[in-house]
Amino acid sequence: MSTENLDRESALTLLRWQVESGADEAIGEAPVNRFAAAPPADASPSHPTPAAAPADRPRPRAAEALPLEPVGESVSAARRIAQACATLDELRGALAEFDQCPLKATATNLVFADGNPESGLMLIGEAPGADEDRQGLPFVGASGKLLDRMLAAIGRDRNSAYITNTIFWRPPGNRAPTTLESELCLPFLRRHIELASPRLLVLLGKQSAAVVLETTEGIMRLRGKWKSYRLADAEVPVMPTYHPAFLLRQPAAKRDAWRDFLDVKNRLDSMINET
Ligand code: URA
Repeated sequence: MSTENLDRESALTLLRWQVESGADEAIGEAPVNRFAAAPPADASPSHPTPAAAPADRPRPRAAEALPLEPVGESVSAARRIAQACATLDELRGALAEFDQCPLKATATNLVFADGNPESGLMLIGEAPGADEDRQGLPFVGASGKLLDRMLAAIGRDRNSAYITNTIFWRPPGNRAPTTLESELCLPFLRRHIELASPRLLVLLGKQSAAVVLETTEGIMRLRGKWKSYRLADAEVPVMPTYHPAFLLRQPAAKRDAWRDFLDVKNRLDSMINET
């Protein structure tokens, strides 16, 4: 597509779309349509050109590019590194240094956590979006505003709740995280939960419930039913509920989420009264 004749507003709109889609670097003055590029005429069969791959063969997506280390080794490294962290600050530092997750290469910032880890209430979302990537904080966009209202409805805010995600870098264009990306982040997430040691966990949406509870059951079936998470020598109550982004698309489901949050409040209140 030629951009030469675009007016300023259209050019900015196009640029914003590219940034939203995960482009974070300009590598040429003029755009090149690589889909239209013809293979060189003299490409010999002994040196096949990648661009000349048959059109019907699926093109690998960037997210499926091989990690720097073999997958098993990267996941073992993630486990070893995460387990060695003794504090949340160390865990944040270790994640900032961890180069084996392909998402780090396209993200602007590490998105670790926000709120108060001493609060006893830990909420886990899916993955950072564009706003979170820009600010390096979870749930600061439209979903985050709704999450703040949901917390306010049970008398809490970011001083009395702790918020993180299953994935610590934004997947380009907000695509779903791949299995590899989830597996690489999981040891850090598990250590994150251990170090924050919450009294109660809230899982926001399908990905969070699937990863933390290791289940394939959908969020429609899971939500509103107490589960538990083994933490050292304790069982932590877990409430899976809808993701705020889903509630923005399906406002009718807010009633169920409201019930789930009330259950969370009641359970936390009774735990506090017991101590
Ligand atoms: N959605 C999420 O799951 N997490 C965020 O941090 C933002 C949007």
